[in-house]
Amino acid sequence: MQTSQTWDIAFSHLDAGYGEHAVLRDISAVLPAGKISVILGESGSGKSTLLKHIMGLSRPMGGQVHIAGQDIFALDATTFRRLRRHMGVLFQDGALLGALDLVENVALPLSEHLSLSPKLLREAALRVLDMVGLEEFADYYPNQLSGGMRKRAGLARAIIAQPRILLCDEPTSGLDPVTAAKMDELLLSMHTQFPEMTIVVVSHDLASFKAVAEHVLVIRDSGLCFVGSPAELLNSADPYLRQFLERRSGDAGVARQRPMNAGVQEALTRWLAS
Ligand SMILES: Nc1ncnc2c1ncn2[C@@H]1O[C@H](COP(=O)(O)OP(=O)(O)O)[C@@H](O)[C@H]1O
Ligand SMILES: [Mg+2]
Repeated sequence: MQTSQTWDIAFSHLDAGYGEHAVLRDISAVLPAGKISVILGESGSGKSTLLKHIMGLSRPMGGQVHIAGQDIFALDATTFRRLRRHMGVLFQDGALLGALDLVENVALPLSEHLSLSPKLLREAALRVLDMVGLEEFADYYPNQLSGGMRKRAGLARAIIAQPRILLCDEPTSGLDPVTAAKMDELLLSMHTQFPEMTIVVVSHDLASFKAVAEHVLVIRDSGLCFVGSPAELLNSADPYLRQFLERRSGDAGVARQRPMNAGVQEALTRWLAS
């Protein structure tokens, strides 16, 4: 796709949801090219929904999404597919196909669209597997790998076609802190190697946000309650943001006290003592 624009992503009064149900309302923000933007929000706040609208998988209920200056939902299918080539996606669970080994999985974005020999496809896959530290597992199947390795393989697949935009849905969720930190370092090194790439990370992982974010959006109650720099977010006095940053829950998360039924209690006590 020929474009003189940088690969900014811009939401303009975006309303998004499913059927009649709006999950996001009136979202306006820019995710700038050449930066790592992190979208924070509680589970179910609409982070993945926002990503689906960047990928063109869901149509807005209202408003627009512009990528590289183009209103993506106003493009004809062919032009959109051309633009879509420039996006790499790391899905939440890695989304690897169980029947394919790592080389085949990682090469998919190329093998689907280019007629390359198996040898060249393998070379291209090994290159990106090496970048994420998985070259020696090239012939393994997804079920032979740990969660962290599957996410790294998903990242390798996301970058194999040299995307301008890299979208990562919860790249550290479900990982232990050390493995999560490794994933953050990988994202940072992608940023260093491809300084013009627009990187978008959706997360609820505060440690990860602190490690990688250069620009931050926070979703709350279907809208954006914060857009700015990580330092501004960390210094914010807003009560909700403080609660989020300090990992305090609202009272809905506190277990209420409620006595056990006396009959059950008696039987349980007898059994536990027997
Ligand atoms: N395919 C779908 N159909 C209907 N509702 C959905 C669908 N996907 C997500 N939702 C709903 O939209 C809301 C936001 O979901 P999601 O974007 O996945 O949140 P997050 O990624 O922040 O956890 C949730 O209430 C979820 O139940
Ligand atoms: Mg999600």
